[in-house]
Amino acid sequence: MYSKIVGTGSYLPEKIVTNQDLEKMMDTTDEWITTRTGIKRRHVASETDTTANLATRAARRAMEAGNVQPEQIDMVIVATATSDDAFPSTASRVQHQLGLRHVVAFDVSAACAGFNHGLSIADQYIKTGFAKMILVIGCEMLTRAVDWTDRSTCVLFGDGAGAVLLGASETPGLLSTHLHCDGSQHHILYAPNTVVQKNADSPFVKMEGKEVFRHAVTRLGELVDETLSANNLTQTDIDWLIPHQANIRIIQAMAKKLNMSMEKVIVTLDDQGNTSAASIPLALDIAVRDGRVKRGDLVLLESFGGGLVWGSALIRY
Ligand code: UT7
Repeated sequence: MYSKIVGTGSYLPEKIVTNQDLEKMMDTTDEWITTRTGIKRRHVASETDTTANLATRAARRAMEAGNVQPEQIDMVIVATATSDDAFPSTASRVQHQLGLRHVVAFDVSAACAGFNHGLSIADQYIKTGFAKMILVIGCEMLTRAVDWTDRSTCVLFGDGAGAVLLGASETPGLLSTHLHCDGSQHHILYAPNTVVQKNADSPFVKMEGKEVFRHAVTRLGELVDETLSANNLTQTDIDWLIPHQANIRIIQAMAKKLNMSMEKVIVTLDDQGNTSAASIPLALDIAVRDGRVKRGDLVLLESFGGGLVWGSALIRY
């Protein structure tokens, strides 16, 4: 048995904060943000939004797209670094909001690479026959997790959610997943849980941007090679690259590595900023809905984040 994506959905909050808006709030410029990152604006959740609500909206759209009824879903996996509660999981709230049966629901903590981790886990459950239909969601409210007086991080992030339904299939859809972690670099990108870590000075995202950038380009390059070689493929076989959306320069480096024109890369960074675990399912849903990614296309998903963690998934969509 294989797993295949049967439906995608996404949700972005209505409120948009542009680089020009940020210029009025802090010592930054549209020029700096655009040239260093590729970001022009980001969506920001309302006061009343919760991470679970964003996730549920994206999930409903995926269910509509795949024509999947609540009773068909066997499991909910939510990838998030910004869960509403320390416990229980965001997945448990989503399970309830969607009116699902008492099926397994849990969160995955793998920062910006969380969605690929969720896909990989879901794939194992489907291959073993434990589940036939799994909802995998990436959702974040990173704008609540940044220090709005720290211009080096707060300009980077946005809020949103993306979801896929992964279903059992006779033909291969999810061809392979590849996940890695280097815990020795934990300190270059993290957000302390200040309830537990009493000595931490703040709960906000801390990042040594240049170091993270350097590791990202190296590790993602290796990951692309690993994924192609595991599937006996070459660069030209890939139809679409859907990278985690952290920095346009990292994305361009991966396109170059794959010898791929930027037209074959799904970029949402300009409109959404870095939405962490949500960025890949958001980009996938947008590209499916606007007709770029079609059934049968070979799609490479790759992501990198705090941990450090990095992961890929190769999909015959
Ligand atoms: O999603 C998880 C993975 N995350 C990533 O992959 C992020 C990887 N890193 C990056 O994307 C980049 O390192 C950043 C976009 C975060 C930063 O770009 P950079 O080219 O590495 O800049 P920098 O941090 O070295 O800062 C350069 C200068 C500094 O000024 P000085 O010390 O050279 O005078 C910063 O203070 O830019 C300054 N700066 C800013 N200036 C205007 C930092 N943030 C801002 C800002 N506006 N918002």
